[in-house]
Amino acid sequence: MELLDGKLVSAKIKEDIAAEALDFFNKNGRKPHLVAILVGNDGGSETYVASKMRNCEKVNFQSSLVRYDDHVSEEEVLQKIREINADETVDGLIVQLPLPKHIDPEKVTETIDYRKDVDGFHPINLGRMMRNLPCFIPATPYGIMLMLEYYQIETSGKHAVVVGRSNIVGSPMSILLARNSQPGNCTVTLTHSRTKNLPEFIKQADIIVAAIGKKNFVTADMVKDGAIIIDVGINREQSSETKSGYKLFGDVDFENVASKSSWISPVPGGVGLMTIVGLLKNTLKSAKKEIY
Ligand code: GUN
Repeated sequence: MELLDGKLVSAKIKEDIAAEALDFFNKNGRKPHLVAILVGNDGGSETYVASKMRNCEKVNFQSSLVRYDDHVSEEEVLQKIREINADETVDGLIVQLPLPKHIDPEKVTETIDYRKDVDGFHPINLGRMMRNLPCFIPATPYGIMLMLEYYQIETSGKHAVVVGRSNIVGSPMSILLARNSQPGNCTVTLTHSRTKNLPEFIKQADIIVAAIGKKNFVTADMVKDGAIIIDVGINREQSSETKSGYKLFGDVDFENVASKSSWISPVPGGVGLMTIVGLLKNTLKSAKKEIY
């Protein structure tokens, strides 16, 4: 078994991003700039956004955080998005999900200028991704592709089983793995909570992408010997063992699955760190106008 080490890979790629951002600053007199909008006080979202902002500083980006409490109206958020869309000093804009129930995430996503949509959630970016055109790719799937690329993992012709069909991870991941590119050229099965005999599908996988949001969902008996395992789960549980007061668990029972796998990503220290890299790379591409 070998580790898909998000800590190592993200650190290496961030070094390159930091150098490119410095170069951008020297040429343009400003840093690449990411703005995040955070609504409410969801513990997970607070942590992720804080980490995104911190990482921006580390790679010589400017970052700005716009915060609202839970009761902000949908229109106020949309108005802010329009204002940021028009601000030429902003390269990337993300609105952290989930949002409170009275705010429609579809409206929010479609209001973000697709040219600043560094989360890659806008229908124009998703549509362009389907057609293999230049676009912003959603950060988590993008980060996973970068990790596969870093380790030069041969994916062509392999059977990838994606578990979970979310707009953010599972659905775009299935498209990227099936695309005619390296990494890519997989035969993909996209499974979800309604899939009948789900373990039977997972057992056939050469590559498993677990993104269903259930702690230790993928167990050793579901895994074929030598499978490549990518764990996207970030399941938070309260714990007195850690300083932060919570502990993270993946969607894969790492302890029992690892020895059966050829490659496996840990949680924490795996895909989560690569998501940030995907976001930073998209923001840099936006600043450099490499896509639009
Ligand atoms: N919530 C969970 N993952 C993400 C992400 O990648 N981007 C945003 N905006 N919200 C999220």
